[in-house]
Amino acid sequence: METIKLDIKKTLDFITKEQIVALKPDAVNALEKLHGGTGKGSDFLGWLPLPSSITETEMEDIEKTAAQLRKCRTVVVIGIGGSYLGTKAVVESINPSFDWLQPKRGNPVLLYAGHNIGEDYLYELCETLADEKFGIINISKSGTTTEPAIAFRVLKKLLEKNVGQEEAKNYIVAITDKARGALRKLSDKEGYRTFVIPDDVGGRFSVLTPVGLLPIAVAGINIRDFVQGAIEMEKATGEQTPFTKNIASIYAATRNVLYAKGMKIEILANFHPKMHYIGEWWKQLYGESEGKDGKGIFPASVDFTTDLHSLGQWIQDGERTIFETVISVETPEYQMTVPADDDDLDGLNYLAGRRIDEVNKMAELGTQMAHVEGGVPNIKITLPSLNAYYIGQLLYFFEKACGISGYLLGVNPFDQPGVEAYKKKMFTLLEKPGY
Ligand code: PA5
Repeated sequence: METIKLDIKKTLDFITKEQIVALKPDAVNALEKLHGGTGKGSDFLGWLPLPSSITETEMEDIEKTAAQLRKCRTVVVIGIGGSYLGTKAVVESINPSFDWLQPKRGNPVLLYAGHNIGEDYLYELCETLADEKFGIINISKSGTTTEPAIAFRVLKKLLEKNVGQEEAKNYIVAITDKARGALRKLSDKEGYRTFVIPDDVGGRFSVLTPVGLLPIAVAGINIRDFVQGAIEMEKATGEQTPFTKNIASIYAATRNVLYAKGMKIEILANFHPKMHYIGEWWKQLYGESEGKDGKGIFPASVDFTTDLHSLGQWIQDGERTIFETVISVETPEYQMTVPADDDDLDGLNYLAGRRIDEVNKMAELGTQMAHVEGGVPNIKITLPSLNAYYIGQLLYFFEKACGISGYLLGVNPFDQPGVEAYKKKMFTLLEKPGY
């Protein structure tokens, strides 16, 4: 099997190879700190050996529980931040885009809740699920986060109303801390099936724990392929891999050199709408990991070519403080050509018989050329295809690079003290006891 590829050539009009290589000692040191557990936040490094340390028993347990939930037509994944983004990123980039409309493969539809406090959202979700036997996967590491707690309270009552209190328990699974938090207490009291989020794995690094694996399996995706892809990347980015061959180190070093040169914003771009949530997951991973102590690249994401007709103008001609990282997919799953037309009134016959993907690839290349000419350094990550194996590689690659990059930046990539600020203000305003 191939591995994903990283190409930084199109940054070299803006920075030099020497500047990247100058970061080698720091990058090697960062990798050593990660593997040796000697850097900041070292009590949150449980994600590092995750893929290769998942046991057969754990996999079977997840698959068995997934099979039970797959008896439902709809399964609601409750969680916010790292508790749902990994799932949404993986499921949407792999499963057919319109599964939710016409579930062709008999997969349950995954819906999401607890990632906002929109009253209308929750109301409309409840209306959609009225009278239905649906599944709930309630995910909260801390077990105390307000958004998922509200959603769970509402949806639990709805499910109990729909199927009865005892039967509801067969379709509720909680994923939380092994001992602490309100969700643990509630699950133990109600007797829900539970999975544990290890203490040393933070939310945004948890996609290879049951947090991601259970709902991904419920969606009908082969989690063994996904984990296998991550294992390959675990090997490829390990301490034994020299700097020049370690794509996680190179990516981390390159973005830090660009940042030091004033490129304060990284835009992650895709050319496949199915990858939209890869961008959302990536923004959380890098935003929460690096945006602290008054520093950090601002992670933004775009879907091309869609956003070439909106943000494209800014990217081409706006303030030159950005660089772009493009995820390219070599081979789409299906083949489709532009049809010929006798009248050719739209003038498209020059494309007749050519693959839609050829047009997309030329858009990708043209965009890269235009943006580089316009002063935007370009990093390219190539996936051979969009499947569970390569998505497993991609997510682990980003996690590993994020740890290295955070250390290069000099921050603790594994905490998120800033997330508490809004909560404290909100709790005071809501007069929560103790605030
Ligand atoms: O990455 C993180 O740690 C956070 O984004 C959390 O995932 C998010 O805040 C949800 O927390 P919890 O799972 O404790 O409800």
